[in-house]
Amino acid sequence: MQLMIRATPAQVGEWAARYVQQRIHQFAPTGDRPFVLGLPTGGTPIPMYQHLVALHRQGHLSFRHVITFNMDEYVGLPASHPQSYRAYMQRHLFDLIDIPPHQTHIPNGNAVDLLQECQDYEAKIQQAGGIELCVGGVGEDGHIAFNEPGSSLSSRTRVKPLTQSTRQANARFFADDVAAVPQEALTVGVGTILDAREVLILAHGSRKAIALHHAIEGCVNHLWTVSALQLHPRSIIVCDDDATLELKVKTVRYFCELEQHSPLLDSMN
Ligand code: GLP
Repeated sequence: MQLMIRATPAQVGEWAARYVQQRIHQFAPTGDRPFVLGLPTGGTPIPMYQHLVALHRQGHLSFRHVITFNMDEYVGLPASHPQSYRAYMQRHLFDLIDIPPHQTHIPNGNAVDLLQECQDYEAKIQQAGGIELCVGGVGEDGHIAFNEPGSSLSSRTRVKPLTQSTRQANARFFADDVAAVPQEALTVGVGTILDAREVLILAHGSRKAIALHHAIEGCVNHLWTVSALQLHPRSIIVCDDDATLELKVKTVRYFCELEQHSPLLDSMN
């Protein structure tokens, strides 16, 4: 695991966007060999999406040969609802870049057969060749995608009931009305995320500090599903200073030294 610490949420977003750009460029995708990118929603990745859009508008990044798979979607929210993850992705990224619409995938939370939808979603990821880089956020309770505490660390895409605390945390997107937050979601599993060739998790703010402590200094544990990153050979967490508040000083120093010795971002990027 590598931990990249930046001063502000904007710098976290900029670093993540430049890393995504670098990985796409290194991969040099073509129509026959596309780059498969896993994508998150929530408040955290918005600065990253703004930077990705800016890089695209400046002519530095094309998504023509990128295929995306989102991590999750609410069950029962119409795709046209402004808080559906489909609407979120169109608004923050897809409508603003050159990705062909058929190359964007989000689980359909309105499918008649949700179980089938989940199985089909896993199959589509496989057919695309697996996820090259999976970008995610983390919940205050340490969930990745919607893998709530207690999720199996080998779980696959499935329907997941949301905890009260997650619904409360997400109520801010529903005019602070917890009752308006759907009770279930479709989510890729922890196992689906661990299958990605590389995982990049974004976090900022002191609200995420305890989750980061469990992710980095705690044991691998299904109550903090983000801790499963410890099992992954290529995982990166990029966070701001506030999100490190529960880490030991020596942990922070170690990762800062690691960054000096093995920078992940090319300076010429
Ligand atoms: C949500 C999403 C997650 C997201 C997390 C953090 O519930 N399902 O994919 O990473 O919670 O959200 P935020 O970035 O808004 O804090």
